[in-house]
Amino acid sequence: MSFHELPGRPKAGTALCRLDEIAEDEARNFRFGGGLALFQLFLVRKAGVVRAYVNQCPHARTPLDWQSEDFFNRSKTMLLCGTHGALFRIEDGYCVRGPCPGQSLVSVPIEIVAGEIRIAEPGGRPEVLVEVLAEVSAETLPRAPAEAPSERAGGGSGSSGVSGR
Ligand code: FES
Repeated sequence: MSFHELPGRPKAGTALCRLDEIAEDEARNFRFGGGLALFQLFLVRKAGVVRAYVNQCPHARTPLDWQSEDFFNRSKTMLLCGTHGALFRIEDGYCVRGPCPGQSLVSVPIEIVAGEIRIAEPGGRPEVLVEVLAEVSAETLPRAPAEAPSERAGGGSGSSGVSGR
């Protein structure tokens, strides 16, 4: 079942957090509704890519982080279900070890709008590339007029890259 078919899911356009509020090797959980209607999803950022999954293990349907927001194995190379130890690939949520091999986490389509990570419409991609977004932002920002070649040779700052954060 795809994300947009799940009952209780947040609607497309729902803001989760700002892109700069999730650090490399970090995962963040988001809760919607409550009680029996509680719906949880999480973001994970690894190797410059932010991905989103429903926080529900395909084995027994429990949240992966039975310890709050602890989604990784010890080496932070896989996603870990804390209930019975299933391991999932970060890049696609596919279970490679544990009681539900071959099954997958449900991916959540996301997009960046004005620096915020938001739920995307059906058919959207389940990840955003942080570095690519930084480059695109830099290209679309207004820039000062280009210097003449003779002025550039004279020792300007020469900085045309994106400032890191
Ligand atoms: S509920 Fe996740 S491994 Fe059993």
